[in-house]
Formats: sequence, structure tokens, C-alpha cells
Amino acid sequence: MNGQAVVSQELTGARLRPAAPIPRNRVLSTFEIILELGKNPIATFGAPSYRLPYIPYPSRIRRFLMVNDPEGVKRVLLDNAGNYIKADQVQRQLRPALGNGLVTAEGADWRVQRRAIAPMFQMRHIASFAPAMSQATQEMLARWRELPHGEIIDADDEMMRLTYDIISRTVFSNDVTMDYRAMARAIAVYFENVGRVDFLAALGVPDWVPTPRRLRAWPALRFFRREMEGLIGRRRALLERDPDKAPNDLLTLLLTARDPETGTRFGEDEIFDNVMTFIFAGHETTANVLAWTLYLLSQFPDVDVRLAKESQTVLQGKVAGAEDISSLVYTRMVLEESMRLYPPAPLLAREAVGRDVIGGHAIEPRTVLLVSPWVIHRHRLLWDEAEYFDPERFAPGKREKIHRFAYIPFGAGPRICIGMGFAMQEAVICLATMIQHWRFELVPGHPVMPLARITLRPQYGLKMRLHCRD
Ligand code: HEM
Repeated sequence: MNGQAVVSQELTGARLRPAAPIPRNRVLSTFEIILELGKNPIATFGAPSYRLPYIPYPSRIRRFLMVNDPEGVKRVLLDNAGNYIKADQVQRQLRPALGNGLVTAEGADWRVQRRAIAPMFQMRHIASFAPAMSQATQEMLARWRELPHGEIIDADDEMMRLTYDIISRTVFSNDVTMDYRAMARAIAVYFENVGRVDFLAALGVPDWVPTPRRLRAWPALRFFRREMEGLIGRRRALLERDPDKAPNDLLTLLLTARDPETGTRFGEDEIFDNVMTFIFAGHETTANVLAWTLYLLSQFPDVDVRLAKESQTVLQGKVAGAEDISSLVYTRMVLEESMRLYPPAPLLAREAVGRDVIGGHAIEPRTVLLVSPWVIHRHRLLWDEAEYFDPERFAPGKREKIHRFAYIPFGAGPRICIGMGFAMQEAVICLATMIQHWRFELVPGHPVMPLARITLRPQYGLKMRLHCRD
């Protein structure tokens, strides 16, 4: 691990700087970057990355431009989005698992899928998933109540389990045979091997070459394929036999969706790839938000107390539901600030198709544009005291003044996260329900460090002691 990155958190003056690698005082060479990217991409960003609007990395292999200026981000993600496709490094990490689903598809394939899937994420559908979110949280809390007083949990693991439970209820009504542990292991193997920047791939080794990392990831992929094919086959049979008995979940919606323009249905591969996409994109990310929020609350007791008070006042002991969301204003502020410091998708990379000019920089075809929510959310030109935790930034009245492209945890433009409303509803319900009854104490001495492996996870997990407030 990078020598500077082992520092988990520091007290600077009287204030605590939440865990993050300490930026180096120089921009690394392209070769150093490729090496370091494989370890922890967010540790490669030197101090200049957090101070300059653009950082070009001229290299003989590939041109890179890091875009931190919100106007430049707007150009890449929105105004000239048609000129930028997802970079091949990103595709190489995601395609083995997600195939040509909504996250990875491009061009006409993407447009057709987005059009057909968008209605599934309308607010009325999302609201209908709230009871599943509340129920899963309630069951987790019931399990915690059985634990001895002051028990230590791994909050990262618990949040993964919770959001996986929610995604299984909402995507396929729990109709799976795979157990949570087997699934979590398979995802961990996949992320650890395919989810890191691959030195051999960066040197141009083609995808079909069985590199050691790819060989390690293949059993995990075979496991998913087996489980998902069984699941889809069972549901398809039920829809043919007795459509009225089919549950009203995302899988049924996917199997019955029609392209609003052409009336055609999804093919086998598109269904499979999108089920995988919902599982991968739909639970890891929200789990990370919740885990990082619990970490921050453990470090900032005044925020924790205020948050607990809000949930107790609004919920009065009951589980949060869709009807409470608009009253849980501070809960939302805390989550938004938590996603500023720990954006679950820390790096979005695009590749130019044609020429462009961004912030005075000439963009040639195949230039890689790095848009990093991690860096932009901590950029000194955009945020005061950028590294410190302060939910007040997102208070009503202040939040509207944040530049739309300076805060992009869900991306922006046509490829913005389709699950944003789902994720925010889920995160508010889960957090408010948990915090009403429980306080989380980070086990003294437990190291905390964000690690980017597609998503941003606590590298060493999050060992926390549970304290019941009741
Ligand atoms: C806090 C939780 C989440 C965060 C921070 C998040 C973040 C993101 C980001 C940044 C993107 C854009 C990637 C890019 O532009 O390269 C994205 C896309 C996507 N997300 Fe999420 N996501 C979250 C939850 C979810 C959930 C719950 C689902 C589904 C149930 C989901 C499904 C998707 C899909 C399908 C896309 C691709 C959309 C497209 O390209 O048309 N996400 N997400």
C-alpha cells in the first residue's frame, strides 16, 4: 500500500479530517499512475489535482485530461455527451459481469434500453418498493436486538447484507436460491480481481487472454450466471402459466416491458444483463453510502445526536416509510454530505469519439476524460474546507447554490443514475430507522481507509460496537 495512504484520519487543529489518503505534492508520471491505479486509484491524485480545474497527462500510450471544472464536466456529461463514450478501462471492469446492460451499453442499444427501463423507476413504482425497504431494515434491527449488549459488527458487511436483501425483494421478490454469503463472496472476488485497474489490460492485453486476475474472477461469474438463469427461467414460466400470480417486482417489469416507440420486448441477453446490472449497481452503491455515513456519525457525535433526534421526533418509534421522507430533512442532508466525501462511484471515465475543446484543451479522438466525483467533491476551488464533514452545506437554501456539476454522486446528463430516486428513498428509510434506535462506535484502533474498486469501500471493513439508544 502507498506509504502515505496508511494514515486513516487526522486531527488537524481542533478538527477531525475524516479518513482519506493524504494527497502527494506532485502529479505522478503516467507510468507511476498506471502502477498506483491498480492499488488504490484515489491515492494517485496529488495535491494539484485538488487545486487545478484541468490536469492534462500527455503520454505516448494515451492522452488523458482530468476535468474538475464544473463547466467542463457539464460539457462532457451533458452538452456534448454524444461525443463521449464510457472509457474502455471502465468497460473492461464492468462488461464481464454486466454484459451489454444499461450501465455498459452505448449508442442505439443504450437508448432503447433506457427508454424501456425508465418507466420502472418512476416515483410511483419507487414508492411501492418502500415497504420492502422498511421490512428489510426492521428484520435487521430485530436480528441486532438478539445480539449481546455492546456487540461488535462489521458495519460494511451489515449494510451490504441489508441492501442486498432490499434489492432481492424489489428486483426478484426473494426468489433466489443463492444465499447472501455466497453472493457476497462472489462479488468480492469479482471486484478484487476485475474491479481494479489492470496493468496488463492498460498495456493492451486483449480481454480474452486469461490473465491471473481474470482466471480468478471466472468462477464468480459462472456462479452468477447459473443463479440468474434459474431465476429468469422460473419467472418466465410463471408469467406464461399464470401471469396474475407473478409478483410486481423489477424482474416482472423487465420481462413484460416494451419499447414505448417500437413495442418490442427485451431479448434473453438484455434481460440477463439487466438483472445483473440491477444487482451490482443497485446494492453495493447504497451499502457504501450507509456504511460511510455510520462511520462519519461515529466520529461526529453532535451530528449523530441531531440526526437521532430528528428520526425519533418524526418516526415516534415506528419504521420509516415513504410518507416520512419529506420530513426527514436532516437525514437527507447528512446522506448528501456523506456522498460528497465518499462518493460510491468515485471515478467516471469517458473516451472522446471526435474532436472537441474543453476549457481551452484540445481533445483528440480516443483521449480519456477523467471526471472524478472523489476529486471534484473535495476540490479547493469548489468547496470551503473541502475535507471536513459538514451536513449544513446541504441545508435547504444552501443546497440550491451548489453548482449542479460540482456535486455528481449520481453522475449527470443522459447517463445519470436511473436508480437515484430508489437509492435516496432506500438510504433515508434505512438510516432514519437505524439511527432512531442505535448508536455506532468505531472500535478504537480500527483502521479506516477508502479503497476504490469500481465502488468506494472501507478497505479494512468497519468494525463498530452497537449501542442501543432505547
Ligand atoms: C447511492 C446509490 C447509488 C449511486 C451513488 C449511484 C451512482 C451512479 C452513477 C455515478 C452512475 C453514472 C455512471 C456514469 O455516468 O458513468 C450510475 C448509473 C446507473 N445506476 Fe446508479 N447509483 C446508485 C444506486 C443505484 C441503484 C439503486 C440502481 C438500481 C436499482 C442503480 C442503477 C444504475 C444504472 C442502471 C445506471 C446506468 C444508467 C445509464 O447509463 O443509463 N444505481 N449510478
